[in-house]
Amino acid sequence: MIRIAILGFGTVGRGVAEVLSMKRDMIERKIGKYGVVAIADSRSSISGEFSLLEAIAYKEERGRLPYDKTPRELLDEIDFDVLIETTPTDVKTGEPGLSYIKEAIRRDADVITSNKGPLVVAFSEIMEMAERHGVRIGYEATVGGAMPVIKLVSRELAGNRIFRIRGILNGTTNYILSRMEKEGMPYSQILSEAKEMGIAEADPSYDVDGIDAGAKLVIIANTIFNISASLNDVKIKGISGITPEAFRVAGEKGYTIRLIAEADENGRLDVSPRLVKLTNPLAIYGTMNALLVETDLAGEIFVIGKGAGKKETASAIISDLVDMYGRNNRSG
Ligand code: HSE
Repeated sequence: MIRIAILGFGTVGRGVAEVLSMKRDMIERKIGKYGVVAIADSRSSISGEFSLLEAIAYKEERGRLPYDKTPRELLDEIDFDVLIETTPTDVKTGEPGLSYIKEAIRRDADVITSNKGPLVVAFSEIMEMAERHGVRIGYEATVGGAMPVIKLVSRELAGNRIFRIRGILNGTTNYILSRMEKEGMPYSQILSEAKEMGIAEADPSYDVDGIDAGAKLVIIANTIFNISASLNDVKIKGISGITPEAFRVAGEKGYTIRLIAEADENGRLDVSPRLVKLTNPLAIYGTMNALLVETDLAGEIFVIGKGAGKKETASAIISDLVDMYGRNNRSG
């Protein structure tokens, strides 16, 4: 049986637990029997024999799990094969997720994370450590939500030289810019509506100042270009200076404005509002994310999809789990 531990039991952690419970038959056909042996949020936990749906209901009713053990204490005492790490992102320190991930690797467990912080702060360190311990790191959920990005560039396009990627990696800002374009509403008014939609970061300045897009760009660029970039290496400009008037002027010439994240093989990393032709596939609307990958063999590949959300992020996490333990791909 594959023993799964889940650390972080907010929207994403609960979404994963829900899918592991509801789609058990389908997932077990692909990876064999599994069990969630422990779940923790920042201050409470549950372990041993328990029902996933009851754990979710308990957390939703009381805002916590039944026992007082912290994630740290739990990690020390349970045996598990794979850690699903969905704690909140801190792009400055990577904590607390970074410590949990390192501890899981030390314990020779595979890791699947939706948390950008640890990878933005310590991408190479985590990958080197995982290699030494012979374990795998799945991080599809850190970039683009349900949209396949990490496996696309590292596996499906494996024989290609990738010259450049350009994309829309933040749904909140794309939503704001889309509405500014269509309705001419000012930035501040749309931002307060965007916050209510629930996809903005806890501190929405991370979205509007381009930091969230920059963090995702760092993760993709490290994956593709085998570099050791951090957030400090990204030139970042957010969208707070964009006005409805700018859209009017751009529109007259057949352009719109989008927050574009771009990385190339020379190590140039940039997030900034750019003019985008209205006919360009990157002129997308609403909270969608998109990525254009330029390669030597495959030419241009374009993906588009939902970049955030409970089900969408769970989709990426389950995809990593099936990828690691799938009966046809199991390596360990
Ligand atoms: N705040 C992010 C966004 C959520 O708007 O895209 C997904 O990382």
